[in-house]
Amino acid sequence: MIFAANFKTNHTRASTAKYIAVLKEKLHAKKPEDRVYIFPPATALDQYEGDFKIGAQNAYPTQNGAFTGEIGLEQLEEFGINTLLIGHSERREKLGESQEKVAQKFRFFKDQGYEILYCIGEPLEIREKGNEAVMEYLLAQFDGIDIGYEKLIIAYEPIWAIGTGRSATVEEIASTHEALKQTVQKPLLYGGSVNPANIKEITAIRGVDGVLVGSASLDAEKFSTMILA
Ligand code: 13P
Repeated sequence: MIFAANFKTNHTRASTAKYIAVLKEKLHAKKPEDRVYIFPPATALDQYEGDFKIGAQNAYPTQNGAFTGEIGLEQLEEFGINTLLIGHSERREKLGESQEKVAQKFRFFKDQGYEILYCIGEPLEIREKGNEAVMEYLLAQFDGIDIGYEKLIIAYEPIWAIGTGRSATVEEIASTHEALKQTVQKPLLYGGSVNPANIKEITAIRGVDGVLVGSASLDAEKFSTMILA
């Protein structure tokens, strides 16, 4: 299983260091085949040793240059980062990242050999139209994306389940993952209100290869409990 923590705009450099110290100890008890990823905010990126990988939540597709407010390859390389989250719905919806921009970012970091955790997910109005509309929407989020890329992990995160406390149902996750796997044969994570109470049920679903966790990942003890569940 893959367990990924997306801190979003939470935690500082100091609190991330404390978090990692707690997590590191807890992870001695994890199954060797389980993989853990932590995505702290950019200001908290650092070179941490342990049985987990640190990734960036976002970066601009450039080595360096004049892109005010952005970080590029040079800033990530300083901390040995080679894992990146791309396509999160918050970046698509709240920050206006188009599919074209997302694909451009994907191509750049793929060429750099980055491991990419690529997110897709539909809004509620699409979910309400039924499975066919959902798949059409989700597959469009693979436009310009090389789904054969060897270092690709996909995260399916229905937007209406993110931060709402309302996870998708087992049936919704199972059927969507099964349908997605017909197109893309990559590790497929589920994200959206995953927490200690539903982790076992979600990771037991066929076609779920892991989870991408927001709110419930912010506490190191809580996230560790989920990994060790
Ligand atoms: P929550 O776990 O807070 O719903 O967030 C999910 C998410 O967006 C992870 O990327």
